[in-house]
Amino acid sequence: MHLRRKLVVGNWKMNGSRAALAELGPIAEAARAAPGVDVAICPPFTLITLAAARAGGILIGAQDVHEAESGAYTGAVSAAMLKEAGARLVIAGHSECRARGRETDETVRAKAAALLAHGLKAIVCVGESEEERSAGDHVVRVVAQLLGSLPELSGEAELIVAYEPIWAIGTGRTATPADAGEMHNAIRKALSGRFGDAGSRIRILYGGSVNAGNAASLFAVPDVDGGLVGGASLTAAQFVPIIEAAALS
Ligand code: 13P
Repeated sequence: MHLRRKLVVGNWKMNGSRAALAELGPIAEAARAAPGVDVAICPPFTLITLAAARAGGILIGAQDVHEAESGAYTGAVSAAMLKEAGARLVIAGHSECRARGRETDETVRAKAAALLAHGLKAIVCVGESEEERSAGDHVVRVVAQLLGSLPELSGEAELIVAYEPIWAIGTGRTATPADAGEMHNAIRKALSGRFGDAGSRIRILYGGSVNAGNAASLFAVPDVDGGLVGGASLTAAQFVPIIEAAALS
């Protein structure tokens, strides 16, 4: 088994302002006190450069990317642009972007490939709906979504997977450790099947209502290599205990 460092990523979604960047100081301090944990914050595009200038050892990332290099794609941002702005890792295929078919597995795969080609860490998100879980199809659906969304591994850039059950995002409902364990184990098997030994080095994050109260029990689950945190990443007061839980796990 490979030793994988824990990774805790804050996804600020469409929240944050210049004033919110003051949260980065205490978050970076907590990250320095947890040398075994990698910590990242993905603010909105407009704050990436400012955040990167005061990152203090945490990774700054982005929440989405366009798969093309450049061109007539109004409103879109490329991997090269994100890299130049100071992003080191980027989320691809978040369910809020996949929603209503705005992004297919194929698009997510192309986005992840573009990120890796530019040396950026790519976080590929997958997750089932409440209906899929109720029907008992969750593992099959998530593994199919994953296999459709994975790029080829290329170069040194790191691929990361985030399992975010849609019904747990922003709802206060979290997957139980047993539910997370079942899915992370299935994802690990799929990654090993696809990439062989390299698949066992890919970090798999859990996301969906992670907070200070549940982080430790989730991070203790085998194959849960950290978290992708929305609401509880907006303030250092809520995010720092999650970093501390990762350090202890
Ligand atoms: P919450 O932590 O707010 O549920 O959001 C999870 C998420 O979507 C992170 O990408």
